Amino acid sequence: MGQHTLLDGAKDRTVTGETVADAKPKTIKNTKKLFIKTYGCQMNVYDTERMREVLAPVGYEPIDGPEGADMVVLNTCHIREKAAEKVYSELGRIRKLKEKKAKMGDGKMIVAVAGCVAQAEGEEIMRRAPIVDLVLGPQTYHKLPEMIAKISRSRGERLETSFDTQEKFDALPVARKPDGYTAFLTIQEGCDKFCTFCVVPYTRGAEFSRPVDQIVAEARSLVSQGVKEITLIGQNVNAYLGKAPKVEGDGEWGLGQLIRHLATMGGLERLRFTTSHPRDMDDELIAVIAEEPKLMPYLHLPLQAGSDRILRAMNRGHTFAHYRDVIARIRKARPEIALSSDFIVGFPGESELDFQCTLDAVREIGYGAAYSFKYSVRPGTSGAALPGQIDEDVKSERLARLQALLQEQQKAFNQSLIGRTLDILVEGTSRGQDGLFGRAPYLQGTHFKGDESLVGTIVKVKIEDAGLNSLSGTLVDG
Ligand code: 5AD
Ligand code: SF4
Repeated sequence: MGQHTLLDGAKDRTVTGETVADAKPKTIKNTKKLFIKTYGCQMNVYDTERMREVLAPVGYEPIDGPEGADMVVLNTCHIREKAAEKVYSELGRIRKLKEKKAKMGDGKMIVAVAGCVAQAEGEEIMRRAPIVDLVLGPQTYHKLPEMIAKISRSRGERLETSFDTQEKFDALPVARKPDGYTAFLTIQEGCDKFCTFCVVPYTRGAEFSRPVDQIVAEARSLVSQGVKEITLIGQNVNAYLGKAPKVEGDGEWGLGQLIRHLATMGGLERLRFTTSHPRDMDDELIAVIAEEPKLMPYLHLPLQAGSDRILRAMNRGHTFAHYRDVIARIRKARPEIALSSDFIVGFPGESELDFQCTLDAVREIGYGAAYSFKYSVRPGTSGAALPGQIDEDVKSERLARLQALLQEQQKAFNQSLIGRTLDILVEGTSRGQDGLFGRAPYLQGTHFKGDESLVGTIVKVKIEDAGLNSLSGTLVDG
């Protein structure tokens, strides 16, 4: 599953393909200035953080915009056509800044394109955008310092799109530099499922799970620096099967076992995981959902479509009845759980009746949040060649109907929380006077009044108001 969740102002999770300008304002004299722009999913957010970390020892300090930067990295997303197109328009803007910098005698701006567009269209980027100095795929960013050194000596490869995920994780330091109290931790990458609409198996490669010891060491580093909540991420995170800790011998652990183990870590208060596939929800994981209080009661489990005919054409490998059964088991295990999903409308061959099955499925399951997209033809996927491609206006009309229903459910879910007292992880201050901002267990941003000293702690807030995306309430003592 390509989990494609975005960030908003602080650290938000919504849809995919949008832009997140994330950088830190600090600059130190005589250091080189780095601007990384992140598009797409949490995997890219994590990769951006890791790129910053590998570039810090060679003198790069993050800044909050491309102007005057010594290095600009676009960390790109290829999941839908629109996301991929953004790269070229952004490169047009960067070109002007690069020329301006050179004209002012202010040194060279190195421009790099990283991420999934780099992986899929590396050669084309170099051809179409001569200002690009480096193109590197998602499995190669640990080589950035070396590549920069090589291009400054005007020799060496400008294009690096090899696919050795293990080498990348072995090369990256386990020590992290977290930014805040919640962090992503990639535990699994790539996908072997080949849904017929999806580029992920081509851009991120085959499924790879990091060894448990490496994950634990990274989690420890995060927690020792104040992180309270870790979201374990992977394109197919519940297919995780990683080398068991050395002390346990030669076996492999699934996601359930990994979560149980991480939950014993002192100081780590909350765990989440995303994105999952309905075929990989095994009994152990469902038992952990039932039994582990540190695991938040919110699960993203994409259905994509409600019609069995379309699910088959998508190569999802399950029916709606299977999905319904998995959900029933999860809800029985943890009744307070909220669900979210991804949906695609207008997949080739989707009839009005098929689309009605998606609406029916949404009505039956009931979601706390969801992300929905018009099918976008992706080069290289088998869906691109299917007959019965749907007109753009039919897709738009179906998307509008689906989103109206999903928004209604999301609003109703948020309003159902009014009157309840929720644990909120305080992430920072909010715009209003003496306002604080945090995350509810169900991921909504939550606003309330309180003292700044509470930032980084988990507090109880009685919910009094709910909008489509956020909650607000009053701090409850104790
Ligand atoms: N067109 C539209 N949506 C897509 N997604 C993946 N590939 C495509 C595509 N070609 C959606 C799926 C997936 C989410 C991350 O993006 O719903 O779960
Ligand atoms: Fe997810 Fe299917 Fe894409 Fe794999 S191929 S990342 S399972 S949507």
